[in-house]
Amino acid sequence: MNFPVNAICFDSSTALMRHHSTGITNNKGAGMYGLVNRAIEDLVVQAHGRDVWDKIKREAGVDVDVFVRMEAYPDEISYRLVAAASQVLDCPADQVLGDFGRFWTQYTGREGYGEILDAAGSTLWEFLFNLDELHSRVGLIYPDLRPPSFSCTEVTDDHLNLHYYSQREGLAPMVVGLLEGLSLMFDTPIKIERTLLKEEGADHDAFSITKYTRD
Ligand code: HEM
Repeated sequence: MNFPVNAICFDSSTALMRHHSTGITNNKGAGMYGLVNRAIEDLVVQAHGRDVWDKIKREAGVDVDVFVRMEAYPDEISYRLVAAASQVLDCPADQVLGDFGRFWTQYTGREGYGEILDAAGSTLWEFLFNLDELHSRVGLIYPDLRPPSFSCTEVTDDHLNLHYYSQREGLAPMVVGLLEGLSLMFDTPIKIERTLLKEEGADHDAFSITKYTRD
């Protein structure tokens, strides 16, 4: 897969997906496994080097030398890292989240979760139907996981609506990036449209996903 790692925050295709959000907010007190913060670190270090990462951590006021994969850190730390990355790299937080989402399948595949990814399906549609099952398997490794939940409606061969339910706020742009990463992984081009937005008062986020054929 040819994810443009060194294009973090400079990827023009992300701009097409950008939307105006009210900004990311946090969910103080609840935990997010260190795996997530390690992935943010990996993405930034690969694209911009360790000095930039150290600057982002300083800016975020995060004094953690090494994120431990299996340890839960307050959600707030991840949100602060994304906000600081946005500031230091001078790019919108939504775009940082999108880049992170695109990076995630590649990262988890490499970090030993390839079998879980493989088990979730051999086509994009099958994979999207199985996202909750995937996180249930992840939950066997990470017992305090607070995973999102997804469901598919109005499914045809080339279209479906994906509904995204989360205890957290502001992560829908990351889901767009995740979907783009999956689209690459399955070599299935898709158009993604946000149809329900929590930040506009809906009780969950939803995406209309349509396959298209490359000319
Ligand atoms: C084997 C691959 C995967 C692993 C190991 C994994 C693991 C995780 C972990 C550890 C978290 C943090 C939640 C917590 O610590 O409580 C998380 C959150 C999340 N995951 Fe996955 N995940 C995987 C694949 C995916 C895929 C393919 C999607 C695509 C939609 C996805 C969507 C999300 C979202 C949106 C969140 C944010 C949490 C929220 O909305 O509350 N994950 N995942």
